[in-house]
Amino acid sequence: MKIIKTKDYEMMSKKAAFIVASQIGLKKDSILGLATGGTPVGMYQELIRFYQEGMIDFENVTTFNLDEYYGLSGDDEQSYRYYMEENFFKDINLKPENIHIPDGMADDVSAECDRYNQLLEAEGGIDLQVLGIGRNGHIGFNEPDTEFKVGTHFVKLDDETIEANARFFDNPEDVPQTAISMGIKNIMQAKKVVLLANGLEKADAIKKTIEGSISPQVPASVLQLHPDVTFVLDEQAASKLDS
Ligand code: PGA
Repeated sequence: MKIIKTKDYEMMSKKAAFIVASQIGLKKDSILGLATGGTPVGMYQELIRFYQEGMIDFENVTTFNLDEYYGLSGDDEQSYRYYMEENFFKDINLKPENIHIPDGMADDVSAECDRYNQLLEAEGGIDLQVLGIGRNGHIGFNEPDTEFKVGTHFVKLDDETIEANARFFDNPEDVPQTAISMGIKNIMQAKKVVLLANGLEKADAIKKTIEGSISPQVPASVLQLHPDVTFVLDEQAASKLDS
């Protein structure tokens, strides 16, 4: 496990963007696992800048997003597909056919989860998975539970997650209560993982993830078992760590 402590959000974003850019530099047809939320926005901005400056090329890159709200179509401004278009995809040269996000409108959720798992496997798995972390220690929408969920699955969101995500909605009652999320095995099978966290509200989750016992109650803690995981933290998110 590698822990990189950075001064602030900007430096965290730059560092994370460098890690992603290096991955693409080393392997042009990299398969990236991507995250949404407030945390990676700065990283996506940096990556767009690298692309515009000719430093990286997404032509042969494939992406898999971690999760999508259930019941929202890709045109919905609150969907994660929309987020990805707005924050990243519209400004780079990823091929649309190489972009994968769970279908939040799928009638048969279980078939959609199977399709996503099979697609991940068929593509050979993720080279580099980017993660944020919830205040409750979730990764993707793997919420605290009595067991780790293995593959892509339908999930009822935690009250804490719904409350945290309400900041993105005009009306808190509009926050979806369910989602489709990659599972812990999907994430753990990535060759490399980079987890980003900033701000004091993530400090407890980061401490439990890195220094606590491995438990499905803190889903991110399973990353202690990953052979190539890097935590990129700002000072505040790292502030409760022992060392
Ligand atoms: P945030 O969400 O980046 O908006 O804090 C992270 C997460 O819930 O995984």
